[in-house]
Amino acid sequence: MKKLLGIGIFCSLLLVNSGCYYDSEEHLYPQGICDTADVKYSDQVTYIISNKCFDCHSNSTAPISGSNQSWEGYANISAYLSTGSTTFISSINHVAGYTPMPKDRPKLTDCEIRTLEIWIQNGYPNN
Ligand code: HEC
Repeated sequence: MKKLLGIGIFCSLLLVNSGCYYDSEEHLYPQGICDTADVKYSDQVTYIISNKCFDCHSNSTAPISGSNQSWEGYANISAYLSTGSTTFISSINHVAGYTPMPKDRPKLTDCEIRTLEIWIQNGYPNN
């Protein structure tokens, strides 16, 4: 996890200057493997959301830059998802008619999107 975080930070730094975005999946998942066999809220989901959404959707940033929607903590995100709204998935997939998320930033990698989709399809367990 520490290693992943390090790579993530490294990649985010590169991302500012270069096209690292397109290879970030390879850095995160060696050999381009997207391992979604064991998706956990406490692991991959929290990792993706805290890195890609908390700048605007944490408890402290949401009132300022995330239209008061916080995805920090299981209670907040599960309450939003429990409405059955497809907005969350549609936004990260950049579906027409939805505000693309992360707002004004590069789209999540295919693997990140797939990971979040699988977790939601599984009924967003608090695992
Ligand atoms: C740079 C700031 C920023 C980032 C990063 C960001 N968002 Fe947002 N998000 C917003 C703002 C602002 C809105 C309000 C809608 C708008 O501006 O159109 C919003 C709205 C949303 C909504 C719709 C909420 C509703 O019901 O109206 C969803 C879902 C969402 N964001 C998901 C995400 C996810 C998931 C991520 C991370 C992968 C993310 N956002 C990253 C700023 C951000």
